[in-house]
Amino acid sequence: MSIFRKATLDDLQAISDIYNEAIVNTTATFDTQPKTLEEQKDWFNSHKPKYPIIVAEIDGSIVGWAALSEWSDRCAYTDTAEISVYIRNGYRGKGIGSRLINETLQAGKGAGLHTVIARIEKSNATMIHLCEKKGFIHIGIMKEVGRKFNRLLDVVMMQIIL
Ligand SMILES: CC(C)(COP(=O)(O)OP(=O)(O)OC[C@H]1O[C@@H](n2cnc3c(N)ncnc32)[C@H](O)[C@@H]1OP(=O)(O)O)[C@@H](O)C(=O)NCCC(=O)NCCS
Repeated sequence: MSIFRKATLDDLQAISDIYNEAIVNTTATFDTQPKTLEEQKDWFNSHKPKYPIIVAEIDGSIVGWAALSEWSDRCAYTDTAEISVYIRNGYRGKGIGSRLINETLQAGKGAGLHTVIARIEKSNATMIHLCEKKGFIHIGIMKEVGRKFNRLLDVVMMQIIL
């Protein structure tokens, strides 16, 4: 049975495992070194109630997470967030990311966020497709802003007004 719910600190090891796999094996994130649990605790605690972290749980195991993180610490940006979504390898392509995005955007809207930005590496056709499907629009491309696995990477910028 799948459950989508707000994350707690008890979920942090699973959240970190999923994220660290993506750091090491994909260009989905521009982090290049796995995060320690301490670093992840700081990340978790930086998410005030307005910025939700949602997990997907199947039969008691965390199989994915999504977060809305502060876009900037400058006060006028307080109603703007950036979305992150990561599904455990082996559980991708089963509709979990789509559902997590819905739940997260709904939670963010309920918490008073006005708009959400997505920064997506240009070859990540699945995430671009999902964002388009949810109503995000393309707002630009940042050329060659990342370098990972000896490749220069472009970033597609997308945005939704909630
Ligand atoms: C991107 C990610 C979050 C999507 O979650 P998911 O559970 O795999 O996605 P879903 O199964 O909900 O939906 C996938 C959608 O992409 C579509 N898709 C799959 N491959 C595609 C491709 N090459 N091009 C375009 N669309 C594609 C599917 O058809 C489906 O769309 P549909 O619902 O309209 O049929 C997940 O694959 C993941 O964790 N990837 C690695 C980390 C990552 O890229 N995170 C995003 C960082 S910005």
